[in-house]
Amino acid sequence: MTDKISRNERIKEASDYLRGTLADGLREEITGAIVEDDQQLVKFHGMYLQDDRDLRPERTRKKMEKAFAFMIRVRIPGGVLSPAQWLAFDQVARDYGNGTMRLTTRQTVQLHGVIKSNLKATLKEIDAVLLNSIAACGDVNRNVMCAATPEQSPAHAAALELARAISDHLTPRTPAYREIWFDGEKIAGGSDEVVEPIYGKTYLPRKFKIVVAVPPSNDVDVFAHDLGFIAVRDAQGGVAGWNVTVGGGMGMTHGEPDTYPRTASLLGFCAVADAVKLAEAVVTVQRDWGDRANRKHARLKYTIEDRGLEFFRAEVMRRAAVVLEPTKPFAFASTGDRLGWSDGIEGRSHLTLFIQNGRLRDDAHAKQLSTLRQIAQSHDGDFRITPNQNLIIGNISAEQRNEIHWLAKDAGLLAPASGLRRNSMACVALPTCGLALAESERYLPDLLSALDERLAAHGLAADDIVIRMTGCPNGCARPYLAEIGLVGKGPGRYNLYLGAAFDGSRLNKLYAEDLDHAGILAALDPLFAAYAAERQKGERFGDFAIRAGFVAATRNGRDFHADVGTQSALAG
Ligand code: HEM
Ligand code: SF4
Repeated sequence: MTDKISRNERIKEASDYLRGTLADGLREEITGAIVEDDQQLVKFHGMYLQDDRDLRPERTRKKMEKAFAFMIRVRIPGGVLSPAQWLAFDQVARDYGNGTMRLTTRQTVQLHGVIKSNLKATLKEIDAVLLNSIAACGDVNRNVMCAATPEQSPAHAAALELARAISDHLTPRTPAYREIWFDGEKIAGGSDEVVEPIYGKTYLPRKFKIVVAVPPSNDVDVFAHDLGFIAVRDAQGGVAGWNVTVGGGMGMTHGEPDTYPRTASLLGFCAVADAVKLAEAVVTVQRDWGDRANRKHARLKYTIEDRGLEFFRAEVMRRAAVVLEPTKPFAFASTGDRLGWSDGIEGRSHLTLFIQNGRLRDDAHAKQLSTLRQIAQSHDGDFRITPNQNLIIGNISAEQRNEIHWLAKDAGLLAPASGLRRNSMACVALPTCGLALAESERYLPDLLSALDERLAAHGLAADDIVIRMTGCPNGCARPYLAEIGLVGKGPGRYNLYLGAAFDGSRLNKLYAEDLDHAGILAALDPLFAAYAAERQKGERFGDFAIRAGFVAATRNGRDFHADVGTQSALAG
């Protein structure tokens, strides 16, 4: 490590607790953008400056500024929204966004295409339903995720309660958000301890992600996150305490083997009363020990790899004044959602809808946004965004069951027959994401149709196989934990990863590079054939790919890049 700090660190430090020159930049009418330093700061307020990449060539030809607009991401702990909050998003998406809503892999909503002059109005409407976008992006604790299943046992309620408590505890305290977006009065700054008691002036070295899981579902992908809590149940089905995980993360850079995805390590077991204290301690150790010189090496996963888990655990226990016990036994079964109807408590039920890649819109095929608006207008339960980009209409009364079922069916929101599609996710990528090297959300549906034909030919059409695609190696749709992972390399080209565990506990491994559409089909078809012919009873596709020798198993982050490529089965 060096004493040199990265440019982002200087920007944070000079920002006066995330103010920068944002307030002035918003008033600047000559451009739809904001200045470069503020582009970094605006992330802490939940926004990214983007431009429509589809329009770049035409606008360059016409010597026009890029088609700038903002993506706004909201903070929704556990992904739970009231019908009124749903309706507010629906309204702003149509009034100020691009007419679509994006449910994300981290249980929140993104609105795309909001132009600078509409930002304040959009945030005001979101604020009116008691939601905000502070810390939805940036080097801070992001949206806290939680097992999406609505109350089915006291453990589910306890998990949501913990997610909300951690979210509140770790929300930045700076008054900058209200000042800038709601024209609040500037509140004079105090010392670090007064303004940001947990983060201080320079916040965290990098983003920080926390989740709460309730076995047997690992829908939150606990091993993909910086900090995780896994419910350990008591005899009554409540929570006896939490197994704590640390140091998971997805992002890496092509061609830089020092960067790698990593599954989280088990830190120990804590009492219910100690969970928030521990979360704060893990965050502050990372605040102080994380790498502030190299952003590609700044996540908690590298801090733990560099310092060692034992040393890290000792420091966390010291700061929290908590003694962690040895991890208790737990077992996960899957990372997917239970699509369709399930029973709730007190005569209510839940319907998990399938939202392809989380994108909701009205188009010639289906009126998904309008249908959900109609449901929200009379539904007296809740809406829950799942970590798989799906949506649960939660706590539906017996009287409304039928009507909601038929509305959802008509809008094409019920689970598809294809086992691959049911277990698919894609990140946003083009045209909004500035980092995308290849298509993702706009391409995966077609690729799935082509793969489904092959699967059907081998009698595998209904089998649950997890497939995830991203437009670049940053990993927003957690592709390194998919049985089939596809990661954009360049226009129309993808790296193919195989061999992750169905329950989210093992990373996959690079199998083939730079494949185009035909290449992906040609690579996977023989694997499907072999799986259909040779699998053992109950054997998952990811496990089979390893046992049959198609890829080596990845034991953890550091060996993600080892033994890559086609293994014995094809090399022969
Ligand atoms: C170095 C790493 C990363 C960078 C620079 C990055 C950057 C971005 C950007 C620019 C977007 C906006 C795309 C758009 O909406 O147009 C985005 C979306 C998103 N990212 Fe990341 N990201 C990184 C890693 C991750 C990881 C590892 C996760 C999750 C485990 C994640 C979760 C998300 C989610 C949930 C979205 C929203 C859209 C979706 O569901 O696909 N990101 N990210
Ligand atoms: S994975 Fe890459 S392309 Fe996809 S949304 Fe994230 S940053 Fe953009």
